[in-house]
Amino acid sequence: MSQTPSGGKAYAAFHRRSIEDREGFWTEQAALIDWHKPFEQVLQYDNPPFTRWFVGGQTNLCHNAVDRHLAALGDQPALIWVSTEVDQEKVYTFRQLHEETMRMAAILQAQGVQRGDRVLIYMPMIAEAAFAMLACARIGAIHSVVFGGFASHSLASRIDDAQPKVIISADAGARVGKTIPYKPLLDEAIRLAAHKPGKVLLVDRGLAAMERVPGRDLDYAAERARHLQAQVPVTWLESNEISYTLYTSGTTGKPKGVQRDVGGYAVALAASMKHIFCGNPGETYFSSSDIGWVVGHSYIIYGPLIAGMATIMYEGTPVRPDAGILWQLVERYKVTVMFSAPTAIRVLKKQDPSYLTRYDLSTLRALFLAGEPLDEPTSEWISKGLGKPIIDNYWQTETGWPILTIAAGVEPMATRLGSPGVPMYGYDVRLLHEATGEELGSNEKGVVAIVPPLPPGCMQTVWGDDTRFVKTYFESVPGKLVYSTFDWGVRDQDGYYFILGRTDDVINVAGHRLGTREIEESISSHAAVAEVAVVGVADQLKGQVAMAFAVLKDPAQISDPQARLKLEGEVMGVVDKQLGAVARPARVHFVNALPKTRSGKVLRRSIQAVCEGRDPGDLTTIEDPVTLEQLRQVVKG
Ligand code: PRX
Repeated sequence: MSQTPSGGKAYAAFHRRSIEDREGFWTEQAALIDWHKPFEQVLQYDNPPFTRWFVGGQTNLCHNAVDRHLAALGDQPALIWVSTEVDQEKVYTFRQLHEETMRMAAILQAQGVQRGDRVLIYMPMIAEAAFAMLACARIGAIHSVVFGGFASHSLASRIDDAQPKVIISADAGARVGKTIPYKPLLDEAIRLAAHKPGKVLLVDRGLAAMERVPGRDLDYAAERARHLQAQVPVTWLESNEISYTLYTSGTTGKPKGVQRDVGGYAVALAASMKHIFCGNPGETYFSSSDIGWVVGHSYIIYGPLIAGMATIMYEGTPVRPDAGILWQLVERYKVTVMFSAPTAIRVLKKQDPSYLTRYDLSTLRALFLAGEPLDEPTSEWISKGLGKPIIDNYWQTETGWPILTIAAGVEPMATRLGSPGVPMYGYDVRLLHEATGEELGSNEKGVVAIVPPLPPGCMQTVWGDDTRFVKTYFESVPGKLVYSTFDWGVRDQDGYYFILGRTDDVINVAGHRLGTREIEESISSHAAVAEVAVVGVADQLKGQVAMAFAVLKDPAQISDPQARLKLEGEVMGVVDKQLGAVARPARVHFVNALPKTRSGKVLRRSIQAVCEGRDPGDLTTIEDPVTLEQLRQVVKG
């Protein structure tokens, strides 16, 4: 990276060293966490692209997040749970978090959960979900959190892939004042899944009645009471043992279990808290994400706690009880570092701007935004409104921590509107030509790729499927073993990157990553549907929304507008039921045929372009141009 007008020399040297002297660089970073036994080898890369960090070292995520801080911060807040849905707040000190985690660990052990066993967590944003994750980490069980907004089919496929011994869940979540029962969805998912968990541990919030399956379902409060005095020592794990899997969408309908290690992840998070987020022990971190997403794993639970910070776990939306709630929490808990998504800010932008100035935000140093492109007007609006630096950061479930941003802890470089920033230390980022794999220069659009080995904290493999890991991520650019992010990007002359959208069929709705193939599979299961294509279409508020185009087995079925509307509602209902409302398309349009190439491939990019009113691109291979024209008419309404 060349020097920028805003500086960047010190950071450029820092980054260069992280690539040229990986071992020296990461040995230094590794000192940011506790090791029970020192590692023997910093990096093992004899079987590319599989990467092993801190080989032979023994550590534990829960120890680093909780136990390590007991001496200095035992009576300081660690977990601040706030729910504006049920109007409750509870603060747990590091000591209390330690106790609750040991109780949860004891409950799991009493059910026979051992090191390497999977525990699936399907929970709303409640403190017990944090206890559950930390308890698994403590005893070496592999947690797999499934986003609470997913419904039974999504959950069932994850149960079958993870094969959990125990599932931890709750009676219900709440959103925008509405109770969302989890238990019936969970029961249905277990019914659908081939794998059956031994036990289901249920937190009863008193929000929704639950039917319990005798012999399988356990009550958390009763189990906790049995283990109040539990002392569960940390299980020391080799750095490359598995800490968790987290499912994410890709090109196929089958979600991938992104698998992460223990030591590399702990070091990567500790380093990012220092160099990127600049958080200090005793301060408060507030991320408005959800534990079902990677941001929740890295920057609600593990990152802030490893840094000795209190972390706010928030059940609620940015506009209830009013559009000042996020800032009210910043004032009340003296938040110094905040993390959110552009969509949340776009939602606030529609509200009275005076909410931004009603509270004392003097403790807040910066607002980090990630998960989807941050548009310039939104960035400028919030930056002016708060009078704070806004730091865009670009990364993925697969990487676990930012690939592109600004490392203010190394050198406070200027941000650039529309750009998440520059490659972070440890990432050897390149822009490659999609078809030839050739490296591109500045101002040329290409695929954002990373030359392996990937730095600590990134995925180890796809759970149970090494072949898929290599094939999906490392064999998509011709002739080169590089990690593809599946994002288009461009770099300016000063080394700042701009992200231009996905190269695959993944869409991003309000910062939620969804696979269009999963939605297509769900819609196809409706008896009336012969064929369907789902694409992501630009949306002012949510970034993108899913738009479905379905061909019916019997088009006569929707001869009148009433019948059409009814069927559209029915199809959306199927998606709601199977995948969850989060995946529901904004519209389901019915068409006579889908635009396809002569070899039968659906022209998704052209469909998307037509929906967005853009030029559909090269149509020389289209089988029947009339199909695209009909689609254009349908979209116009
Ligand atoms: O397309 C990119 C987009 O979100 C994808 C990753 O989503 P997920 O796995 O859910 O991880 C989110 C972690 C923050 C990316 O491939 N994306 C993420 N952050 C940005 C972004 N697009 C533009 N700008 C960003 N800052």
